Amino acid sequence: MGETNLSQFGITFKGSGSYIPKQILTNEDLSRIVDTSDKWIKTRTGISKRRISSIHESVCQMGYEAALRAMEMANWSPDTIDLILLATSTPNDLFGSAPRIQSKLGAKNATAFDLTAACSGFLFSLITGAQYLQNGSFKRALIIGADQLSSYVNWLDRGSCILFGDGAGALAIEASDDINNFYGFQMKTDGERGGFLNLSVCGSEEEIIDDIKVNKGKFSNITMNGQEVYKFAVREVPIVIDNLLKQLNYNSSEVDWLLLHQANQRILDAVGERLNIPKEKVLSNLNNYGNTSAGTIPLMLDESIRNKKVKQNDLIATSGFGAGLSWGAALFRWG
Ligand code: UT7
Repeated sequence: MGETNLSQFGITFKGSGSYIPKQILTNEDLSRIVDTSDKWIKTRTGISKRRISSIHESVCQMGYEAALRAMEMANWSPDTIDLILLATSTPNDLFGSAPRIQSKLGAKNATAFDLTAACSGFLFSLITGAQYLQNGSFKRALIIGADQLSSYVNWLDRGSCILFGDGAGALAIEASDDINNFYGFQMKTDGERGGFLNLSVCGSEEEIIDDIKVNKGKFSNITMNGQEVYKFAVREVPIVIDNLLKQLNYNSSEVDWLLLHQANQRILDAVGERLNIPKEKVLSNLNNYGNTSAGTIPLMLDESIRNKKVKQNDLIATSGFGAGLSWGAALFRWG
């Protein structure tokens, strides 16, 4: 649980950007791989198609493109950026991919590192970045969410392959002496329920010498208990948003936009209903992209800003949720 009351500096939102890969995989395409149909997928998830990154559209590439666009909207030169956080579960390099994005951007004065919290990763990174700005350590930060889960999806598992796609988004946030548009947040994890959604190492024993065996690293495909994740999301997400609004003395009727992690249209609808937020205020682009994990929130926000749906000073309640299990919420004004 967090509050911004004690902080030294406020936060302002200066820019957004996103990138979606070129290849499109439709529900019709999927119905040729597994026993499913366009009708079933649309009715149960709201998804019609998703983007799949090619070998040239890695997390670094997508994250870079999204960050570049956010930087351009903010009108920042690369050498003025202090911090780059990359939320991802599918890095190019397990030792860290954010520094590669830093180098491509030419942000030579920035510190860059990765943060992994699956579909909550962007929210957790935004909150983390905000701490450095609020306490005066840094002034300008790029917060990136990028994932290519397509590399780890079991394309023969109809219970999960229908949901996921690839994409990236980024926000440019800045510390301010006199304005604060980031009002507060809540973050939660529950490892007890972690087995519902995993992209785990499936080690195999290999002898290196004289009976000394190493656990050779390799990742298995994504495994998911869809029903349990669904139940978790529709129960916990309204509670965490409601608690945050209460903590900050806001009412859900004051929220201009509900910006949820794009997982399933039925989850979006159920959370909106429980919070009494009308459907028109619940942002959704699931139809086009499916679940892009850490990419969904900044991708959705960037689209809404660029098509002028979300305007300066609009109040946004956001929530990320997913593997870990992990979830949380934040309340902010755009601008
Ligand atoms: O970031 C978080 C990521 N994860 C999630 O958000 C997952 C949340 N969960 C979900 O979105 C939903 O649980 C799914 C979309 C994954 C599944 O929908 P559901 O309404 O929970 O379906 P179900 O698992 O209860 O399955 C209902 C039926 C089953 O058949 P029977 O046993 O009733 O004969 C499944 O075998 O639908 C069948 N089914 C399918 N049929 C056609 C499951 N997947 C498919 C499919 N096409 N793709």
